Amino acid sequence: MARKFFVGGNFKSNGTVASIKSIIEHLNNAKLNPNVEVAIAPPAIYLLLANEITRKDIAIAAQNIFDKGNGAYTGEISAEQLKDAGIHWVLIGHSERRALLGESDKFIASKTKAALAQGLSVILCIGESLEQREAGVTIDVVTSQLAAVAEEVSDWSKIVVAYEPVWAIGTGKVATTAQAQEVHAAIRAWLKENVSEKAAEETRILYGGSVTDKNSKELAQQPDVDGFLVGGASLKPAFVDIINSAA
Ligand code: G3P
Repeated sequence: MARKFFVGGNFKSNGTVASIKSIIEHLNNAKLNPNVEVAIAPPAIYLLLANEITRKDIAIAAQNIFDKGNGAYTGEISAEQLKDAGIHWVLIGHSERRALLGESDKFIASKTKAALAQGLSVILCIGESLEQREAGVTIDVVTSQLAAVAEEVSDWSKIVVAYEPVWAIGTGKVATTAQAQEVHAAIRAWLKENVSEKAAEETRILYGGSVTDKNSKELAQQPDVDGFLVGGASLKPAFVDIINSAA
């Protein structure tokens, strides 16, 4: 089965009502490759607005959820609430949350399970730090991040994996096509061995980290690169060119 190219835009904590409206207006009027699945992840406070005004062939994703359901969890948003609000996607495990908020592999796995239990689709982010890459443990790190999720989840059909080397995020230092392909192939091999052949064949593996309209075409040609998770460049008009760079 051919994997449909997927491009996500992670707005992080950027934007205002006015700028989010203008980014979405640009996307709404753009000519997008129909063979590419697109999702944008605005900050939580703008999710409902985005869901209302975005063309229906672009999905809206939250940047996080809590794993406990509704209840006394001040400041958190549950998977149930996302579903109720008509938001069908969520990013889980972004390295900024892992690093700045101390999110563990176990917590990320638990959130993934909670999201899937509500029928949400998940963009599961994994990736190594610069020290880990230099120590030669990249594959060990990303596969142990996946293994934590596999302990909680057996059906991967609603998971898209985003490989985002931490050293490439927001730094302008993109992984080479060979570096990206090597890790993506290792992730696919891990899925084959530890989940199923079907999961290995069908799971989209996105690359994230300083993707721009200048480097996306070459990265998209790699056999195991099934799309992108884009940060900074998703706030700019060139996001359309990244979406359309599918091989
Ligand atoms: O989730 C996307 C991401 O972390 C990459 O950010 O700004 O390097 O494209 P950026």
